[in-house]
Amino acid sequence: MTQKYRITLLPGDGIGPEIMAVAVDVLQVVGKKFDLQFDFTEALIGGAAIDGAGEPLPGATLDTCRQSDAVLLAAIGGYKWDSLPSNMRPEAGLLGLRAGLDLFANLRPAQILPQLIDSSTLKREVVEGVDIMVVRELTGGIYFGKPKGIFATETGEKRGVNTMAYTEAEIDRIGRVAFETAQKRGGKLCSVDKANVLEVSQLWRDRMTQLAAEYPDVELSHLYVDNAAMQLVRAPKQFDTIVTGNLFGDILSDAAAMLTGSIGMLPSASLGASGPGVYEPVHGSAPDIAGQDKANPLAQVLSAAMMLRYGLNQPGAAEHIEKGVLQVLEQGYRTGDIISADMNLLGCKAMGEVLIQTLEGI
Ligand code: IPM
Ligand code: MG
Repeated sequence: MTQKYRITLLPGDGIGPEIMAVAVDVLQVVGKKFDLQFDFTEALIGGAAIDGAGEPLPGATLDTCRQSDAVLLAAIGGYKWDSLPSNMRPEAGLLGLRAGLDLFANLRPAQILPQLIDSSTLKREVVEGVDIMVVRELTGGIYFGKPKGIFATETGEKRGVNTMAYTEAEIDRIGRVAFETAQKRGGKLCSVDKANVLEVSQLWRDRMTQLAAEYPDVELSHLYVDNAAMQLVRAPKQFDTIVTGNLFGDILSDAAAMLTGSIGMLPSASLGASGPGVYEPVHGSAPDIAGQDKANPLAQVLSAAMMLRYGLNQPGAAEHIEKGVLQVLEQGYRTGDIISADMNLLGCKAMGEVLIQTLEGI
């Protein structure tokens, strides 16, 4: 029997619509093969929503997302909206979506593909075999803590304030996702904090240590965030699963992504306790190359694969896409961000076409 899914598409800004088009084509092809039917609804977010509906996350978008089985998002943001007040910027749309769907767990895998080792800026022997999962807390910490804002002091001078705060419950729920993720992977979890300076991190570390007792098969370690940043570029193979707060996770996941050669290859999943998850590339909207057919659509395509695996429980279809991506790389096809000598440079559309041909042939 055909399995039907309601998918909300949020193409957003910049290269978003181009890479989303490729992912949708790929899903259609895979759907045919695995007897899945996707009912796509497109909605506005980010700059596109500011222009089209006057706000970065229209209520209609959130409603559509809530009524779907999964949300596939491309990217938001661009120069055009950079000078708007923070609550009206495209980024506020993304943060509102995360909060609105209670997507507290952000999974960001950084796995180096053998075909792309030479695209990494690090030495082959440092990155060969890297396979890291960053579990980033996504709806708390300094991104959402109160008080926040820019306030006038008694002297009239302005003072900017954000608050890094975590409750025990918030730490525990992301901790459990991380321990369970590590269980399914290499059994090693590194919790990253700044417990030598921040009280919020001291509580984080205490809770992670407590939780470890419930997961005797997972080996827990702790690193301060500055050391973790250094270790990620010095000896990344020591890491299996990393769990960290919202801000540290934002920073470390970009660093981990770059180990693999290009952030243009990496997908992510944002999950809540129930309800639809949001699947999106780790990279941004790349306004500098938007509309030029230069973007790498593979992170978006791999995000669709993550959606199939984590959101729709269709691991076979997910693997099929992942296999197709590897084969395309194996055949020497590259977009500009991952190009190296003797490889075949393609634009976004052409990369999608080659991938679809490959998927149809597997
Ligand atoms: C990310 C991005 C976002 C974040 C921005 C666009 C709000 O950098 O998803 O990592 O900081 O979380
Ligand atoms: Mg980021």
